[in-house]
Amino acid sequence: MTTDWDAHWWLAEVANDPTYEEEVLPLLIDLLEPRPEHRYLDIGCGEGQGMRAVGESGATVFGCDLDAVLLGHATGPVARARLPELAWLIDGAFDGAYLVLVLEHLSNHRRLFAEAHRVVRPGGVLVLVANHPAFTAPGAGPLIDPGDGEVSWRWGRYLEPGTSVEPAGSFNLTMHHRPLGELLVAAATEGWALADLVERGPGPAARQRDPLLAAQANIPRLLGVRFHKAP
Ligand SMILES: C[S@@+](CC[C@H](N)C(=O)[O-])C[C@H]1O[C@@H](n2cnc3c(N)ncnc32)[C@H](O)[C@@H]1O
Repeated sequence: MTTDWDAHWWLAEVANDPTYEEEVLPLLIDLLEPRPEHRYLDIGCGEGQGMRAVGESGATVFGCDLDAVLLGHATGPVARARLPELAWLIDGAFDGAYLVLVLEHLSNHRRLFAEAHRVVRPGGVLVLVANHPAFTAPGAGPLIDPGDGEVSWRWGRYLEPGTSVEPAGSFNLTMHHRPLGELLVAAATEGWALADLVERGPGPAARQRDPLLAAQANIPRLLGVRFHKAP
């Protein structure tokens, strides 16, 4: 299997970004509400930040990812696999599954929702944490009024599903954009019922560090969704 991910760039420049601890992982834990007696699948676990955070609850966490270098940093059981396929896992093996900043890297999100639905038991949970599609839409970005510094948001091509290519270390990553409605309908089509949806702008610590972010408090950057599988 070949990887399409620059693990060294991720470990050196992104994995320690404070917004992970401050915003991404707390959103995951808020939505997943992990229980010590439960088994979870971390889909696209990378170097295991989500596994460590969920594992602190006492839950059992199994991770999978394509990148062998990142997997080498994870603690706990992991498997190397190319998503969206999860055919190597039996039906109903987990009480819950989650993805953190992974779905936007996959060209076939419907297949991922279907496979996650198969490997989670009836009554189980799926949590999606992603960059908000309004934030990552091709051509989206802040617009700053040079007169008074007011920040507004350019939507870019939000309503059109599509891709953009972003530099990431020594690789160019293809990011898959889907409007929010497309994501929710795809999940529902594969059997997931919406239980909660959270949109968050930059958190207080990030706004304090960066004046441009301070002016974007009401512009969504992170999306978190909790889905349930029917009992
Ligand atoms: C932005 S990182 C997030 C990693 C981890 N979830 C975290 O929050 O730290 C995206 C991850 O998706 C993995 N990935 C991307 N495409 C993949 C694919 N087709 N199959 C398996 N993993 C993939 C990458 O290797 C990388 O670890």
